[in-house]
Amino acid sequence: MISAVIFDLDGVLVSTDEFHYLAWKQMAADEGIKFDREINEHLRGISRMDSLELILRNARRHYTEEEKNGLAKKKNKIYVELIQSLKPEDMLPGAKRTVEELRTGGIKIAIGSSSKNTPSILNQIGLTDYFDAVADGNHITRSKPDPEVFLLAAKRLNKPFDECLVIEDAQSGVEAAVSAGMQVLGVGSASSSPQATIRSKSLNDISVLDWIKSNPVMDYNKKL
Ligand code: BG6
Ligand code: MG
Repeated sequence: MISAVIFDLDGVLVSTDEFHYLAWKQMAADEGIKFDREINEHLRGISRMDSLELILRNARRHYTEEEKNGLAKKKNKIYVELIQSLKPEDMLPGAKRTVEELRTGGIKIAIGSSSKNTPSILNQIGLTDYFDAVADGNHITRSKPDPEVFLLAAKRLNKPFDECLVIEDAQSGVEAAVSAGMQVLGVGSASSSPQATIRSKSLNDISVLDWIKSNPVMDYNKKL
């Protein structure tokens, strides 16, 4: 039985994914590096430095470690400015209802995000006090598709991994959840992921609590 839900943040609860895109685009344009939405799709769920490495594959010259740190810092500065405007109303459709429904239904909830900006984003959208645990980019060394962030979230919730459902919009996050031995609801870009246990275009189109209640006994071996 699922007793805990771990939410990815960017692209699941709030549409910061567009701000990540705009910030990388500006950094890449300043460096004369090709960057578009198709390349951006591969960055979902991936840490800042790993994202930069992927972008630099299209660079015409080699960048030193110091230069890379400078570029990551520059991108983050642009990103942090963009997220200043975030308000509770900017949560994605169905996100707030889902969080509240699960809390009321007695399901433990956590954040499992690669982002080091998680604390300030939760603060901007007024959700800081909603979660029983937070695992984010500040607490891990390996980014999705590594399962580290989800395993840490489960540990902080004091829940076994096979009682956790992850909600993800990134293919890297779906893979991370599967590697952690967890079930996963794919939304947004991950709503067509064949590896997801269940899929929904948006949290607005599904009651996660009803789904959990209607699936009291899962055949985990079959699912995985
Ligand atoms: C993930 C985003 O949630 O966080 C990625 O999907 C982003 O696009 C990653 O690169 C790291 O974010 P931050 O805020 O630490 O740069
Ligand atoms: Mg995401």
